[in-house]
Amino acid sequence: MMGKVDMMGYTLTKANQFIQEKKHLLQTEYRLNYHLMSEYGWMNDPNGFCFFKGEYHLFYQHHPFTPFWEDIHWGHAKSTDLVHWTVLPIALAPSEEYDRDGCFSGSAIEKDGMLYLIYTGNQWTGSNRDTDLVQAQCLAVSTDGIRFDKWPGNPIICEAPEGDIHPHHFRDPKVWQRGDQYYCVLGSRTQEHVGQILLYKSADLMNWEFIGIPAQGDAAGNSGYMWECPDLFQLGGSDVLVMSPQGIKPEAEKFHNLHQAGYMLGKLDYHTGKFEHGPLEMLDYGFDFYAPQTMEDGQGRRIMIAWMAMWESEMPEQAHGWAGAMTIPRQLSLEQGHIRCRPIPELTKLRGGLTAYEDIVVTDELTLEGITGDCCEMELILDASEATSAGIKLRVSEGKNEQTVITFSPQDKTVTLDRNRSGRGPGGVRKAPVQSDNGRLQLRIFVDRSSIEVFLQDGEKVMTARIYPGEKSTGITLFAVGVMKVIRLHKWDLHKSVEEV
Ligand code: FRU
Repeated sequence: MMGKVDMMGYTLTKANQFIQEKKHLLQTEYRLNYHLMSEYGWMNDPNGFCFFKGEYHLFYQHHPFTPFWEDIHWGHAKSTDLVHWTVLPIALAPSEEYDRDGCFSGSAIEKDGMLYLIYTGNQWTGSNRDTDLVQAQCLAVSTDGIRFDKWPGNPIICEAPEGDIHPHHFRDPKVWQRGDQYYCVLGSRTQEHVGQILLYKSADLMNWEFIGIPAQGDAAGNSGYMWECPDLFQLGGSDVLVMSPQGIKPEAEKFHNLHQAGYMLGKLDYHTGKFEHGPLEMLDYGFDFYAPQTMEDGQGRRIMIAWMAMWESEMPEQAHGWAGAMTIPRQLSLEQGHIRCRPIPELTKLRGGLTAYEDIVVTDELTLEGITGDCCEMELILDASEATSAGIKLRVSEGKNEQTVITFSPQDKTVTLDRNRSGRGPGGVRKAPVQSDNGRLQLRIFVDRSSIEVFLQDGEKVMTARIYPGEKSTGITLFAVGVMKVIRLHKWDLHKSVEEV
């Protein structure tokens, strides 16, 4: 594989040519069927998620040359329905002095019929990547949504504002329009390394004025040292700040991943920049969910996609020449003071053959004819009121030594996702509290070839994980300690929807 030295002087042509030459060489074992991945190389955060000229666009942090994070480009894909994705040529390469060490995360917005990308140009100024860096905000513009020109006046925000604001960790602009003004939030930290968010405004996307600090961690508390990838939007009459804090320590069932992705509800004062808000809540209780980004589509829906991986986590697909994927798109709604995340309805287009069961009693373990798969959706309504614990095992191998286990404990009202025996890759157990007064649990599970996304109680909680079982581990088993009634079990095989040549 080519190292940095060989590829100095990045251009789009170089990156796109490299991908075309190499993508056929990928090993396919863990490639996903309906989740967006890069064609080759590394992928992290979703960027520039938007709807432009009748199509959805999703960009992503991308290193095309190796399956490792460095010298970040912006990969690009589009879709007419958020289900079927076509990968497009790379949109941004770190080609200029101000972004020479990476075109870091950012967002997209349409203005006067053109698509603007606003992103962070990163430069390393020494060998320590925590301290030796300069970050500045930049623009790129396109008329067709495919070919982007970097703005000649870049960077448009050259340095962090004065005050208790770290001068260098200053990144991930997320822009939106309100009336005739544009606003933008940025990820930041204080001089003493406490996470915070910055708010800016602009009339033209080029000249930006700092308004204030809408939210800041508690220096004496458990707030983390850096808040990355902020997003701010209205939902159900509330303002929502989504962000990815780094360095928060576990608290009960929360915050068990290396870094978190969560939200705070509140009210933003656009003049002072103050955001009166509640506590940080989790957006996903699984293992692999980071840097979510949302967009409002033409139907007024708030849709979120996140990076389905975690920093510093073992990623077995790296040995195959690629790494990272996006979650399925999730539609957000605010219900009883909390965000619910549901799979977007369009995903039902992926459904192929249905196998359905009703009113089945499970004591111990049960397998059912036709209920197997490594690329499927399942909808289950379980009554575990007469069980101490009950659930479902997925991706079970013939000898049962591989399995990914979802267990509901009706007394504790918790669901656990156990990937200690999932196959290769990292293990671990995650737990999500759910509301259930009658021992019932509703599950919607999306299984892809190296991932699982579990939606509990109609989107009240979600648990996402990458798993790496053997290709033949396709068994599915229901189990109960005590008696579980399966009121309904529907399973659909899912089609492939991400084009691969
Ligand atoms: C979040 C992040 C961003 C940054 C990008 C670099 O995962 O660290 O803050 O812009 O990744 O790839």
